[in-house]
Amino acid sequence: MTANTRTDDPLVDLDDIGTNPTSNPSFTDLIASRLSRRRLFGLGVGTAGTALLQACGGGGDGGAAFPILPAAPAPAPVPPAPSPAPAPAPLKLNFGAVAKSLDDVVSVPVGYTASVLYRLGDPIASGVAAYKNDGSDEAATYDRRAGDHHDGMTFFGMNASNKWDATNASRGLLVMNHEAITPLFLHPAGQTISGTGNAAVRTVAGEVLREFYLHGVSVIEVNKSGSTWSYKQDSSLNRRVHTLTEMSFSGPAAKTDYLKTRYSTDGSKTRGTVNNCANGTTPWGTYLTCEENWAGYFRRIKATDDAKRTNPKEVTSFSRYGVAGTGRELWATVTGGDDIHARWNTEVIGATALDDYRNGSNTYGWVVEIDPFNPNSMPKKRTALGRFGHEGACLGPVVVGKPLVWYMGDDSQNEYLYKFVSTKAWDAADVGGGTAAGDKYMDDGKLYVAKFKADGSGDWLELKLGVNGITAANANYAFADAADVLINTRLAADSAGATKMDRPEWTAVNPKNGEVYLTLTNNSARTISGANNTVGTDAANPRYYNDPKGATAQKGNPNGHVIRFADTGGNPAAVTFKWDVYLFGARSTASADINVSNLGGDNDFSSPDGMWFSQAAPGLLWLETDDGKYTDVTNCMLLAALPGTVGDGAAKTITNVDGATTATQATFVGKAPGTDGLRRFLVGPVDCEITGIAESGDGRALFVNIQHPGENSKTIGDPNTFLSHWPDGAKSRPRSATVVITRNDGGLIGL
Ligand code: FEO
Ligand code: CA
Ligand code: CA
Ligand code: CA
Repeated sequence: MTANTRTDDPLVDLDDIGTNPTSNPSFTDLIASRLSRRRLFGLGVGTAGTALLQACGGGGDGGAAFPILPAAPAPAPVPPAPSPAPAPAPLKLNFGAVAKSLDDVVSVPVGYTASVLYRLGDPIASGVAAYKNDGSDEAATYDRRAGDHHDGMTFFGMNASNKWDATNASRGLLVMNHEAITPLFLHPAGQTISGTGNAAVRTVAGEVLREFYLHGVSVIEVNKSGSTWSYKQDSSLNRRVHTLTEMSFSGPAAKTDYLKTRYSTDGSKTRGTVNNCANGTTPWGTYLTCEENWAGYFRRIKATDDAKRTNPKEVTSFSRYGVAGTGRELWATVTGGDDIHARWNTEVIGATALDDYRNGSNTYGWVVEIDPFNPNSMPKKRTALGRFGHEGACLGPVVVGKPLVWYMGDDSQNEYLYKFVSTKAWDAADVGGGTAAGDKYMDDGKLYVAKFKADGSGDWLELKLGVNGITAANANYAFADAADVLINTRLAADSAGATKMDRPEWTAVNPKNGEVYLTLTNNSARTISGANNTVGTDAANPRYYNDPKGATAQKGNPNGHVIRFADTGGNPAAVTFKWDVYLFGARSTASADINVSNLGGDNDFSSPDGMWFSQAAPGLLWLETDDGKYTDVTNCMLLAALPGTVGDGAAKTITNVDGATTATQATFVGKAPGTDGLRRFLVGPVDCEITGIAESGDGRALFVNIQHPGENSKTIGDPNTFLSHWPDGAKSRPRSATVVITRNDGGLIGL
């Protein structure tokens, strides 16, 4: 399928797409490169008098707290710890591994409790009724209810004056993304659609309004009372940002022709945000939400619209971003619809760009800054950070007097890793400065894309007009100006020769040493040899194998891996780095060339995605999975890890196999973690993704999102066919939800 063609097959993963046809240099060509290199060491970032504040993920009737029982078989009891207890040094994982499970529950170790905090549809304003969860809730109330598909999330501790206080352990704003929807569970009988193919239309506007509101971001006040967390339904700080929320553009592409629409004829604004996947933070206390698979929401019937495009560059751009199809939810087709529906049609319709939404899809694909402490503030789309399938934006080490850095994945097959480096140096006086501070640090800087080289080093390639082939003379795409480079970041990165990765998901920065981790979730498009114009293995994406699921072959890199790197000299603004592969996903039973990290039954996993370093316990890494490959054996999971450093392992040559064909691939592999370095902490309910993670200021509450349990259910009329009934049980419709995990003795989570 293509990225944006509507599908009624729930088994098609709308994230698992690729629109990168370019043939950048393959490391297969560089196989002769020497493998020797020096060992790498920690970075030692932060100096006396400076702060290391990296924190990318975290920073009424809240729904009854449903205790969730530990999984069977019961792990070993957790020894009691003094409370409060300082983080042990060195850190040591201190819980019994949770067994793999196909049960429809959240399983956590003995000695821990996971409670449901915030479910799809839960009300966040006074006067809004409890969610009936049968498709009958009034559409107009959904702008004051929890969205669907909870995803990236940050806890902002808050003091009694409602200001940001990162250390607060009992009160805060929990800010989270709502990436997408499972339509089957939202309406009385799924989406009401008339016609098929390009002629299919949505006939019930109220259903579409629900869906507009169910995407976006939640800001909710959460409080701890005793040992119990709940959200405050009537807090004045609660807010929903959704697809109808007005937003402004900031940075070099703002107010350029590329962003002009009927809604904003000067290109300064747009409405809404969508497919908000992972997240990020700023050191001044705002939240970043990232627009990932936005392309699929737009209607653009390629066959007819291409012919109307007088500028062929626009067709090249649409092709590179995959803007072609009916729109995955058919929002542009509403019978009797108006401008809020028409704006999802990005075809040429009117006389000029000021009369239609031919540029509408250019207004999506950005990192968006939201000030959660100012409910009336307008979110800003930060164009300097580029436009692509933004997974997340993890803030690098924060040092007074140094530039700020955000690391960003582009999650589609064979896409790239980016970083943005601010021009301005960090001044701690800007804490609390809201989006005005964002104007200072995020609108002016350098955007880079990563090239992972076969010798274990790497280059950050600048994406700027006039460098790396990004010029008007470029044969693939004639770049016109600075805004063109940012609107078409993927095309600029192609020109620079970036490395095609196995779907870059979250980034995370180790607060102990500034090293950066990147999940590469999986890639069914990776081939063993790169023959026939395909993308073969390379040093940074070294595996090709088959992980069969029953009788079904799953080839390429179905289980994914986690790569990590250290920017040279401990300087996040450096333009070179050293890397190795920290961890390879695999079944524990797979061969040594597949299970390269020697995972066992207590820590094997597939398809890493969400990832975040604890701030309360520096060095503790949380790893989440969004898997469909190993789900014959286990539901998705959360693992705790204590990683070492780049270069703690060795050079290795992996033998890849495809039937009778074998090929070798040289790479660099981190030290195998063992169960002391990686252990399963949580397994989710059936058919869910585990994503989004944050902790309270003292590390004694861990917030985790359970996304789309039961999403592959097929029959709306018969609850007996639902694959999950989590979290409410019985015959209920399943709901995405946030859970909060605490240790029964009040200690640090995981240690
Ligand atoms: Fe929305 Fe790449 O996960
Ligand atoms: Ca993700
Ligand atoms: Ca994913
Ligand atoms: Ca998902």
